[in-house]
Amino acid sequence: MAKRQSDLPNPLPDMDAYWVPFTANRAFRKDPKLIVEAEGMYCTTHDGRRLLDGIAGLWCCNAGHRHPKIVAAVKEQLDRLDYSLAFQMSHPRAFELASRLAAISPEGLGRVFFTNSGSEAVDTALKIALAYHRVRGEGTRTRLIGRERGYHGVGFGGISVGGISPNRRMFGALIPGVDHMPHTHNLEHNAFSRGQPEWGAHLAEELERIVELHDPSNVAAVIVEPIAGSAGVLLPPKGYLEKLREICDRHGLLLIFDEVITGFGRTGAAFAAERFGVKPDIITVAKGLTSGTVPMGGVILRDDIFEAFMTGPEETIEFPHGYTYSGHPLAAAAGCAALDAYLEEGLFERARELEPYLEERLHGLRGKPHVIDIRSIGLLGAVELEPVEGRPTLRAMEVFRRCYRDGVIVRTTGDTVALTPPLIISREQIDTIVDTLASALDEA
Ligand SMILES: Cc1ncc(COP(=O)(O)O)c(C=O)c1O
Repeated sequence: MAKRQSDLPNPLPDMDAYWVPFTANRAFRKDPKLIVEAEGMYCTTHDGRRLLDGIAGLWCCNAGHRHPKIVAAVKEQLDRLDYSLAFQMSHPRAFELASRLAAISPEGLGRVFFTNSGSEAVDTALKIALAYHRVRGEGTRTRLIGRERGYHGVGFGGISVGGISPNRRMFGALIPGVDHMPHTHNLEHNAFSRGQPEWGAHLAEELERIVELHDPSNVAAVIVEPIAGSAGVLLPPKGYLEKLREICDRHGLLLIFDEVITGFGRTGAAFAAERFGVKPDIITVAKGLTSGTVPMGGVILRDDIFEAFMTGPEETIEFPHGYTYSGHPLAAAAGCAALDAYLEEGLFERARELEPYLEERLHGLRGKPHVIDIRSIGLLGAVELEPVEGRPTLRAMEVFRRCYRDGVIVRTTGDTVALTPPLIISREQIDTIVDTLASALDEA
């Protein structure tokens, strides 16, 4: 491929070597979109354009870009300690962040394992679930249950319990012993619902059926996103999560909420678990944990799950798992500062306050060409479009391109356009995003 150079303010780099993830690489090289600077609600592109960020980086910069508190904390940490051995030694910030996470988590979920990403958090959570049953003498509980249209990252565990076919089909047999519940998306019953849809709680009963099929003594855990994010922002029907909880309790299964997107204020509460009033046994987090500043993920779990491992001789490693960068000092510093920003600036409450405004503005798009559903909660919204026949994803991709051209970054997942702006967004900026989206839809 020919090398590209440009006379624009930030010339393009040589683009041959980098394989861009989850990207149409050939199309991207023809029409590159590079961000060179960001601050607050805005990003600047390589060709000097300022874009309003409607997606918080990649559903992660919840406190906005380069939040001064987070930047200062990371710089300060780097001046003091770059890295500390993660196994058999540690450093104070990792403990501080774990305690602070426990403090905002549902009661009883007071232990934290750190990873570097959401994918690693998911694989770690699945391993904890399997090992937990084993250390309690229930080692036959090995089966895992996910859900169609679930996204749990890209590790082998995550794609195995995940339910997005294109993410699975190239990678062989995946891990064995996994079943999937049906997804809950149904336009016929629930299109244009405001908040949680009325129809669909009964779909949780599929869990009962799967568990009965295998016998509860063989099933370890169920993992769901409380709101499916990457599959298009699919809200749980009223009563659905409650029913999952009830079935898990009845059969001794662990319930894992993957809150990589829904955590840290996205739904107007620290976690969707709190927003929906359903307490899982394990929560996976990443993204907003550091407001996207430094890579980090984590698993927050019930105290007694941790305690179940604390048996045997004290010198033995209770859970043979971990990453060189688990609890990395820079990530831990970013995490503590992100929590400061969220709590001191009331950003979780702010998302709740802005929820009706975003909802109202988004539902104003009903009737625009090809719009077949609109969904939202907190500062998480989606507009689903009728796919072009035979060309799924094309319609939404066109809308993305037009919004980008007109100064707004949105995200597409399939034929859904998703909005997850930083929680610092103003009403006027919500107007700009929705108005830009409206014109992009009108062009269709
Ligand atoms: C619910 C959920 N789980 C896991 C992940 C994977 O996180 P990461 O990309 O940090 O590995 C994502 C990423 O979007 C996610 O949305």
